[in-house]
Amino acid sequence: MLQVSGLRKHFELAAGHVGKDPVVVRAVEDVSFAIDKGETLTIVGESGCGKSTIAKMLVGLVAPTAGTVEVAGRMLSPDRTQDDRRLIQLVSQNPWSALNRRRTLRHALEQPLLAHGIGRTKADRARLVGEMVERVGLTDRHLGQLPAGVSGGELARAVLARALLLSPQVLVLDEPTASLDVSVKATVVNLLLDLRAELGLSMVLITHELDIARKLADKSAVMYLGRIVEQGSGEQVFDEPRHPYTRMLLASMPVADPEHRRLPEGLGEVASAIAPPPGCAYHPRCAYAEAICGTAVPELLLQGDRMLACHRADELGLPSEVAAAHAAAGVPLPLHASSPADPQRATGGRQAYDDPSDAPVPVPERTKT
Ligand SMILES: Nc1ncnc2c1ncn2[C@@H]1O[C@H](COP(=O)(O)OP(=O)(O)OP(=O)(O)O)[C@@H](O)[C@H]1O
Ligand code: SF4
Ligand SMILES: [Mg+2]
Repeated sequence: MLQVSGLRKHFELAAGHVGKDPVVVRAVEDVSFAIDKGETLTIVGESGCGKSTIAKMLVGLVAPTAGTVEVAGRMLSPDRTQDDRRLIQLVSQNPWSALNRRRTLRHALEQPLLAHGIGRTKADRARLVGEMVERVGLTDRHLGQLPAGVSGGELARAVLARALLLSPQVLVLDEPTASLDVSVKATVVNLLLDLRAELGLSMVLITHELDIARKLADKSAVMYLGRIVEQGSGEQVFDEPRHPYTRMLLASMPVADPEHRRLPEGLGEVASAIAPPPGCAYHPRCAYAEAICGTAVPELLLQGDRMLACHRADELGLPSEVAAAHAAAGVPLPLHASSPADPQRATGGRQAYDDPSDAPVPVPERTKT
């Protein structure tokens, strides 16, 4: 349903903006993924790793430096046509950016219908809007309100209804629950689950909230400084994280039971997208870095059951069922951890993957709804 290939965005800041030379922000580098009808891909990663830039490129708000976006077999041009835009809709990080504060929600919802020539008469459009607000759990009363007159949860529903009125094939949701209270978040997540089941929607969900990402993900991609570093099913990424960065991200997640809280393995702060570290951009923070990590960018490759971008990926333990499948197919398993005594692996006290103390990172229970 959605096929993204080699997506890249380099923002060029004007010469003289910082120093004399033009400065390039490498926001997104060579990002590829695909999702089927009815599937949800969640994209997670720290602030500034390029999530919103991907969202904007998907919906045509930002022109890619390179790469393509294909929806339902149709290659979308950087200058999107009306029909292109209908296929893939954004629910923005900031609902206020999609709404005029001085116009009612009814106006906000009818506008896209008018712009796309949907509904022949005013009565037709009113009916379509009425049906959609009901579907997202709002009523006619809300339609008469200004955006400031409804709650955060109601606003989130209105923005969702606005995107859905165009019957998109793919919905891109950028932090749809960021500004909501915990209890309201749960109702919006449930609404997304219902809509996905009812409408067969494909979704790209960007969120900082790993419990929500985990709940909704059929697939998940973990990003670090513009690149995907781990990609697999929701269960693989959230229940058996393998990339050192994913492990750090999940370990830093607050959990209810302090017994299960682990300190992050990562060291230091995220680097700048203007001057990303050479080689693996994560290497200054990675507890497992070795010499090659500082010089060569690791490719995102299939490693056992998922895609990983890590020079030491072959040393990560494989889940037992994958090992069994390899054995049944007579395919040799990837090399396992070399001895910590191996001089090639002498990492100045850094951890080896086969360190018995490197137990799986505990993750919290799925959000109860
Ligand atoms: N229009 C722009 N011009 C220059 N740089 C930009 C522009 N938009 C984004 N960036 C930079 O690109 C990088 C990625 O930004 P982006 O907004 O995609 O990150 P993000 O992962 O969505 O972060 P957050 O989680 O905080 O929303 C950042 O370094 C950001 O400063
Ligand atoms: S490539 Fe090296 S620095 Fe990067 S995550 Fe893997 S071990 Fe760590
Ligand atoms: Mg963002």
